[in-house]
This record gives sequence, C-alpha cells and structure tokens, in this order.
Amino acid sequence: MNKPIVPWVLVGIIVVLSAVLVGTLVFAKNQPPQVRGVPNLVAVAPMEPDSAKWGVNFPNQYSSLQKTKDNKVDTTYGGSSAFSWLERNPRLKVLFAGMPFGKDYNEDRGHVWSVTDVNGTKRLTATTPGTCYSCKSSNNPGLWTKMGMAAYDATKFSDLGKEIVEPIGCANCHDAQTMKLIVTNPALEEALKAQGKDWTKFSRQEMRTVVCANCHVEYYFAPDKNNVKNYLTFPWTEGANIEQIDQYYKKVPFVDWKHPDSGADLVKMQHPEYELFTSNSTHYKAGVSCADCHMPYTRDGAAKYSNHDVKSPLLNAEAACGSCHKDVSYVTARVAEIQKQVVTTRDNSEIAIIDAINVIKVAAANPKADPKLIAEARALHRSAQLRWDFVAAENSSGFHNPEEALRILATTIDLARQAQIKAMQATVAQ
Ligand code: HEC
Ligand code: HEC
Ligand code: HEC
Ligand code: HEC
Repeated sequence: MNKPIVPWVLVGIIVVLSAVLVGTLVFAKNQPPQVRGVPNLVAVAPMEPDSAKWGVNFPNQYSSLQKTKDNKVDTTYGGSSAFSWLERNPRLKVLFAGMPFGKDYNEDRGHVWSVTDVNGTKRLTATTPGTCYSCKSSNNPGLWTKMGMAAYDATKFSDLGKEIVEPIGCANCHDAQTMKLIVTNPALEEALKAQGKDWTKFSRQEMRTVVCANCHVEYYFAPDKNNVKNYLTFPWTEGANIEQIDQYYKKVPFVDWKHPDSGADLVKMQHPEYELFTSNSTHYKAGVSCADCHMPYTRDGAAKYSNHDVKSPLLNAEAACGSCHKDVSYVTARVAEIQKQVVTTRDNSEIAIIDAINVIKVAAANPKADPKLIAEARALHRSAQLRWDFVAAENSSGFHNPEEALRILATTIDLARQAQIKAMQATVAQ
C-alpha cells in the first residue's frame, strides 16, 4: 500500500513553521519596551540649561514637563494653586513669629514655576544668599561646575539672579549624553558620602527616588563651612530620620531664629519628602519610588514614556496608583482618611505648642521664675516645634509615611505639654 508521503511532509513543515513563529513571538514579547525608535536628532551640550534643546530629541518628556505650567487645580490638602498657608492656618503666624515664614508662605506648584516663585517671595531681603536658588533652576549644574558650590553659595541672591534664567529642567535630573538619572546637587553628593554611600552604585529603581532628593529634602545653610557663610548642607551625618536630624542640629549646634515670645532657639524644617518617605514607609520598603507615583508611564501610540507633568498623584490616580493597585477608588479613599487623621493630629500639636509658648512667655517675664526650669521649657519647645514642622513642611500631609507622621506628632504633643508644665513649675516652685 502506498503511504501518503505528501501529507506527512506538509504536517512536518507546518510543525516547524509553527515552532519558528512561537519562538519569534516569545522573543519579541521579551524585548524591552521601545522608547522612541529615532536616533538623537541634535547633539545636546553637557548640562545644557535650556530644556527646549533637549526637547527636540524627546518631545513627549519636554511637552509633559511644560504642562506643569498650567496646573492650577487643588486637592483637599495639596494641589497647584500656590494658595497662602498663613491665610488658611493663622496659627502659623504664631509658630513662625519673628522669622520670614511668618510673613509669606505659599503652597508649592509645578516645576516650571520655580524661578518665578522664588523671585516673587516676600521672604527675600537685601542679604538673602544665592544659596536659595539651589533647587530652582537648570542653570545650576553648569554654574556649580564652573564656580564650585562654595563660590555659588557666597554670591548674593540679587547678583546670582542674573545667571538664573531657566526654571527646573532636564539638566537637573539627567546626564545629557547618556540620559541616565544623576545627582546634580553637590550638597546631596556630600551628604550621601558622609553616610558612606556612593550614588553611582545605586540601582535604577533607587535613582528614581534619589533624583528627587536633589531638592525635596531638609537642608540648612551652614554658617561657617568651607569659608562660606551660607554653605548648603543636608543634616544627615547621623542618619536621615527626625531623631537623627534633631541630634545633628544639637551637636552642631545650629539655630535659625529665636522665638520672640518663648525665647527658644528654633530650627525651621524644609520640605523633607525624601526623609519621611525613606524612614521605613510601606511603599519605600516595598521598593516603590517617587517616580512610580509622580511620573507614571504614559502611552503615545507605540511609545511609552514617563510623564514629566509632576503633580499631586490624586489628580491622576488611575495612572499613578492603578499600575499596582486594582481598586484605585479604595486606595484614594485611604489617602483621604490618612490625611484627615494626620492633619487633625497636626492641628492638635500646633495648639499644644502655642499653649507652651504662651505659658513660657508669662513665666519668663516673672523675675522670680527659676531660670533652669525656663531653659528646660525652652529646650522642650525647640524639640516639639522641630518635630511638628518636619511633618507640617512635608508636602504629602502624612501620606508618604502615615505611621511615622503620626508617631512624630504624638511625640510632639507630649514634648509641648512637658514644656508647658516645666514653665508652670518655674513660677509655682518658689
Ligand atoms: C505611593 C505613591 C507615592 C510615592 C511613592 C511618593 N508620593 Fe509624593 N504624594 C503622593 C500623594 C498621594 C500625595 C498627596 C497629594 C495631595 O494631597 O494632593 C503626595 C504629595 C507629594 C507632594 C505635594 C504635592 C502637592 O500637590 O502639593 C510632593 C512635593 C511629593 N509628594 C513629592 C514626593 C517625593 C519627592 C517622593 C519620593 C521621596 C514621593 N513624593 C513619593 C504619592 C506618592
Ligand atoms: C531641582 C530641584 C527639584 C528636583 C530635582 C525635583 N523637584 Fe519637585 N519641586 C521643586 C520645587 C522648587 C518645587 C516648587 C515649585 C514652585 O512652587 O514654584 C517643586 C514642586 C513639586 C511638586 C508640587 C507640584 C504641584 O503642582 O503642586 C511635586 C509633586 C514635586 N515637586 C515632586 C517631585 C518629584 C517626584 C521629583 C523627582 C522625580 C522632583 N519633584 C524633583 C524642586 C525640585
Ligand atoms: C525632576 C527630575 C526630572 C526632570 C526635570 C526631567 N526628567 Fe526625564 N526622567 C526623570 C525620571 C525619574 C525618569 C524615569 C527614569 C527611569 O525610569 O530610569 C525620566 C525619564 C526620562 C527619559 C527616559 C524615557 C522615559 O520617558 O522614561 C527621557 C528620554 C527623559 N526623561 C527626558 C527628559 C527631558 C528631555 C527632560 C527635559 C525636558 C527631562 N527628562 C526632565 C526625571 C526627570
Ligand atoms: C509601584 C507599585 C505601587 C504604586 C504605583 C502604588 N502603590 Fe500603594 N502599595 C504598593 C505596595 C507593594 C504596597 C504594600 C502592601 C501590599 O502589598 O499591597 C502598597 C500599599 C498601599 C496602601 C496600604 C498602606 C498600608 O500601610 O497598609 C495604600 C493606602 C496605598 N498603597 C495607596 C497607594 C496610592 C494612593 C497610590 C497612588 C498615589 C499607590 N499606592 C501607588 C505598591 C504601589
């Protein structure tokens, strides 16, 4: 009997072709997503301050960065409209009495507003140092390389202002040749080095958080370092949680201003987003980065890019949270609950500190009061206010690390009430 050879050959060919097809599809699927198939169109100079020049090569990243100009929407506790915190919360005028934040303190807004807003703040005086421009402009990486940070920090704000024309841009976060994320602020490099850390060895996922630490951190102007009066310094030598920061400032010792009513020597905290987030928050420990929530991937046809329209993730929750959480309305409802609890506790801690200030003021005016107890009350006021401000100046109303924020505020209330009791004892004792 003749065997039907032809059909078997056909079957063989079909099997081989199918295997090739499956192999090709699996290979294609495992390729990294395409970013943009075009080679660089123009060469960009190292540290080029003008973002529009980089934008020729990367139009999606450039145009999404420009969107931060038009963000005006507020959320319950955040958003982009630059409202006045002093009008919203008059207690701040008491807490910041005797220092510039008691005069002008507005909500932050989008990255491209940075230069306009720093030039417009009423906190500026004739002696304001150039150091204030350190987290505002893509001119900085070039200037730091040319002048060195010490000379930059020694320049007066009004003189340095002539060189500062570009707001935050590509050069603040990327290397122009490789497009890798980099540390551009010398103060961040020095602070990491002091902790024995080398950022060039960090993973890509770590850099998606560390790049924000160029600016979203607590810092101060060291009054006498490297022969400069206002040397930009991050207080992280002991570590970056609030107790370690407090320890650092005590050790230096450093004082921003004396409170006119309580007489305590205080330190102002500045936007410590990086420090609060990295103090063992759930998201940080799970390996989530700042960019995961604030710069979620967006599609443009076949291309996928990081959205450079950095703003409140609540205005963009589907993209910001939906990549990891199935139930986006559940997690955004959790944000509302967390922020409400943190803000209520924060308000109570403000009331406790103001009570302490008032009692210390009365006690200190009494010539018979025990000076040792007054000094102790003032030290407690300082510790309480530093902790309250760490949470209050942090821009997420506690969401970045709810447990830590509530722990810090509980300590704040305790310290403030202790300050109040000490001041009462100072006059009752005799
Ligand atoms: C898990 C998601 C998530 C991560 C990770 C995250 N954030 Fe946020 N961030 C939020 C949410 C939610 C808010 C609250 C927004 C609001 O109240 O409108 C917020 C608020 C902010 C704000 C204030 C925004 C505004 O509207 O005023 C800043 C600034 C900020 N984050 C910076 C950072 C930085 C820097 C990091 C990393 C150190 C980081 N965030 C990590 C979710 C995240
Ligand atoms: C070069 C300094 C710098 C870097 C780097 C930087 N920021 Fe900012 N950021 C600022 C300044 C300054 C503002 C406030 C601008 C204003 O109010 O004019 C701001 C504002 C914001 C806001 C508030 C926007 C709004 O509309 O309310 C968010 C959110 C934010 N940054 C998140 C991030 C994240 C996430 C990263 C890292 C991917 C990052 N920033 C990196 C300096 C920086
Ligand atoms: C505040 C910091 C910051 C600024 C300013 C910034 N970027 Fe980025 N950029 C990032 C982060 C974070 C990523 C994500 C990187 C990663 O995942 O490795 C990114 C990713 C990219 C990528 C890789 C592809 C992608 O979209 O994920 C390109 C290209 C890029 N940015 C171009 C630009 C250009 C062009 C500018 C200026 C118009 C700019 N960036 C400004 C932080 C920044
Ligand atoms: C890159 C992934 C990722 C993104 C993006 C992300 N989360 Fe999460 N989130 C996690 C992980 C992982 C956990 C840890 C618990 C778990 O495994 O579910 C978590 C936990 C939480 C929790 C519970 C926290 C706790 O302590 O119990 C809340 C609330 C939450 N996320 C809200 C958000 C919100 C709101 C956003 C968007 C602004 C967001 N997350 C974005 C990964 C993410």
